[in-house]
Amino acid sequence: MAKFKILPAKKLSGVIPVYGAKNAAIKMIAGSLLLKGETILDNIPDILDIQKIIRILEKLGVSFHRDGHRLKISTQNLRPGDPDPKLVSEIRASVVLVGPLLSRFSSVNLPHPGGCTIGQRPIDRHLQAFRHLGADVDETKGYYHFQMPETIKNRPVKVKFSEISVTATENVLLFGALQERLIEIENAALEPEVIDLIEFLKKAGVEISLNGRRMAIRGRRNLSPVKHRVIPDRIEAGTFAILAAATKSSLKIIGLIPEHLENLLDKFQKMGVQFERGGDFLYIKKSPRLKALDIATAPFPGFPTDLQPPMGVLLTQAAGISRLKENIFSNRLEYLGELQKMGARIKISSSREAKIYGPKELNGDKIESLDLRAGATLLIAGLTAKYGETVINHAENIDRGYEKIEERLQNIGANIQRVQ
Ligand code: EPU
Repeated sequence: MAKFKILPAKKLSGVIPVYGAKNAAIKMIAGSLLLKGETILDNIPDILDIQKIIRILEKLGVSFHRDGHRLKISTQNLRPGDPDPKLVSEIRASVVLVGPLLSRFSSVNLPHPGGCTIGQRPIDRHLQAFRHLGADVDETKGYYHFQMPETIKNRPVKVKFSEISVTATENVLLFGALQERLIEIENAALEPEVIDLIEFLKKAGVEISLNGRRMAIRGRRNLSPVKHRVIPDRIEAGTFAILAAATKSSLKIIGLIPEHLENLLDKFQKMGVQFERGGDFLYIKKSPRLKALDIATAPFPGFPTDLQPPMGVLLTQAAGISRLKENIFSNRLEYLGELQKMGARIKISSSREAKIYGPKELNGDKIESLDLRAGATLLIAGLTAKYGETVINHAENIDRGYEKIEERLQNIGANIQRVQ
C-alpha cells in the first residue's frame, strides 16, 4: 500500500496544469466500441481508472496505443463477449459499456459495477432506461443480463428519468448512437462531460439535439472514425483552485474552462477568495480573510458533489459557521471524520449534513484516503496543516483520478513524498 507523506510547506506558488477529464475520457473510450476504424482521443489522463477500462476492452479484442496524452484505439478485432467481471466490479464507470455492447451485439452480461465507497450506488435507472428501450433485463446471482429482441429494434422511444443520472444518460446516448430510430430522453444530465460525449458522437455522425433537459438522438449503423480532444477535468481544476485558497497561496491554474466552474467561482466570490479568470486559466490570489458559507450539492449547473469534500477543507479556514448538505450521494461526508482528527471543529448531524466552525488551524496526522475525491481532499488538508507530518494511506485511491499528483504538487512547492 503506497502512502503520501506531507510536511507543512511555505506557501505554494507558480503554475499547475489541469489534465483531461476522467469522466469524459472513460465514456469516449467506451464510445470507441461503436466505431469501425481508428478513434483518436487527445488529452487522456494516465490514471488508474483509465487503465482499467482499457484493460476491459483489451480483453474484448480492442487494441490501444498511447503516446503521451494521445490514445489511439482500434476496434478492428473487437469480438462479441462480456466485460471481465472482476474488472467491472472494480470500476463504477464500466456500467457505460452496456449501451455500446448491447447496441452492437444485442446482448451483454455483467456483475454490479464497483467504485468508490460514497454511498449505495444502485443502477436501477440504467436498468429502467434499457427496459424502456425495449431490452429484456434480468438479474440473477449478482449478474445483470441484457438482451435486445430483434422485433423491437426499430420502434421510436422516449426514456424519461424520474431522477437525473449522469452515467444513465450517457448509457442511453451510447446505445442510441447505433440505432436508426428516434430516441428521446427527458430529464437528462447536462454535466460538461455529457455534453463532451455528445460532441464526440456528433463527430461520428450521430444526430443529437438538445432542448433544456430533453435530448433527441438519431443514430446510424455505420459511424465514422473520430478524432476528439477531451475537455479539461473541471473537478481537478476546482480541486487545485480550492487548494490555493485553503493554503492562502498565489497559484495559476492553466488549461481549464472557467465556465465549467461558475458555481464554485460564485462561492469563491461570496467567501472572499480573490481570483482572476482568463480564457483558459484561473489565477487564485492570497485572500486576507475568508467568510463562512453554505454549500448544497446538485446536478450541473449546481454545486458539484465531487467538489464538496475539497470545499469542506476550505470551509475549516473560513470565519463563522458553514453548513454542508450533500444531496447527490448518501455517504460522502466520511472524510470529515479525518478532518476532525486533524483538529477541525465539525458537527456531523447525519450522513448528508454537517456544520463546520472556522477558522481552525489544522495539524498533521495519520489519515485514510477513503475514496478518490476524499483522498484529494486530504492532500489539501495536509498541505493546509500548520504543524506536523500528514500521512495519507491508500495513495492508490488518489491515483484513480489524478495523474502524477505528487510531481505536480512538488512543482508548486509542496513538500510531499510517495512512500511504500
Ligand atoms: N442513482 C440511483 N440509481 C441509478 C443511478 C444513480 O439511485 O441507477 C443515484 C446515485 O446513487 C446517486 C445519484 O443517483 O445518489 C446520482 O448518481 P449519478 O448516476 O448521476 O452518478 P454516476 O453517473 O454514478 C457520475 C460520476 C461521478 C459524479 C456523479 C455526479 C462517472 C463515472 N462518475 O456518477 O464521479 O460524482 O456522476 O456528478 O461519470 C468521481 O469522479 O469521483 C465520481 C464519483
